[in-house]
Amino acid sequence: MSFRKLTIRDVDWGGKTALVRVDYNVPIRDGEVAEDMRIRASLPTIEYLLTHGANKVILLSHLGRPEGQAKAEFSLKPAAKRLALLLTGFGPVSFLDTAVGEKVKPVVDSLPNGAVLVLENLRFSPAEEANDEAFARQIVAETGADVFVQDGFAVIHRAHASTDAIARLLPAVAGLLVEKEVMHLEGAIAQPEHPVLVIVGGAKVADKTPLIERFLPIADNIAVGGKIAADGYTATDPKIFVAKGFAENADGAKLDIDAASATQIVSMIQAAKTIVWNGTMGMTEEAEFSRGSQLIAEAMGRLGADVKTIIGGGDTAGYVESLMRKDASLHYSLVSTGGGASLELLSGKTLPGLEVLQNR
Ligand code: 3PG
Repeated sequence: MSFRKLTIRDVDWGGKTALVRVDYNVPIRDGEVAEDMRIRASLPTIEYLLTHGANKVILLSHLGRPEGQAKAEFSLKPAAKRLALLLTGFGPVSFLDTAVGEKVKPVVDSLPNGAVLVLENLRFSPAEEANDEAFARQIVAETGADVFVQDGFAVIHRAHASTDAIARLLPAVAGLLVEKEVMHLEGAIAQPEHPVLVIVGGAKVADKTPLIERFLPIADNIAVGGKIAADGYTATDPKIFVAKGFAENADGAKLDIDAASATQIVSMIQAAKTIVWNGTMGMTEEAEFSRGSQLIAEAMGRLGADVKTIIGGGDTAGYVESLMRKDASLHYSLVSTGGGASLELLSGKTLPGLEVLQNR
């Protein structure tokens, strides 16, 4: 399967200014980035641009939901600081405390060759979420950008000014993260090697039903655990296995699948060639109720490279990342950076921020 969109590899970057939409919507604690998976995931694209002659790399992102107002706790400054630490051998990386306005052009004009500039949270203006064309035009004009790069996979399911309007004003191509995520996720739907196993957990059945329905004609087995199983999810097809036993707290709340259910899912994992996992099996915030998820994560993470293992974003990816930090032997084909985005793509929905990019 080849990627259907143009990417940064299709552009001659010599002397150009790249305007790159990343997703630095990361947790901030005490003014510091608490978890930097999304920032690390943006490095290959930034490094590619800088090693292929881009003059300036200007990064756009949102952080949280500040509802159109400038609120200090949603500033991207800590993310820019973390990027500066991670992007070793390149740079400099600087931060500007606004995304639009009279400050932008002089700052961009004064950047040295090979510089990276992070602009402030786009959602400090209501124009971002309104997909306002004038706002997009202003960003393009003030930054003097030549090419737009979409690399914010986690926000690609939104039609906002920085994912949609802006991509209509400039040549618009995908970054390496978007290419990697889409190729893995679309590949699991379009050309998966069988047996295909989909593991579904999490809390809200309404969020997961489209995923189960999308994979019913594709998957050989679907395993359902998590709160949706504990709440009594009923299988509509013989290929759907629903966890029956649960670990409970003192009040009888079912907070994890039990060892017998986990063992059954692990045996399906060991027989599969393509595995997609979306939604934790229990309350992974508490060690006592993370055993089901841990058994599944470890069984998937120890499979050979011939098995495609895809971890959907959001809580599942966060949990798997935390295990990977403790155990470097765990490997997956993809740990998605996008929660809503990966779920929507896997559920068969169209992603506006992807569709607007130039076709190959
Ligand atoms: C995410 O964290 O899922 C993305 O950054 C999108 O954020 P949003 O749900 O606030 O649009």
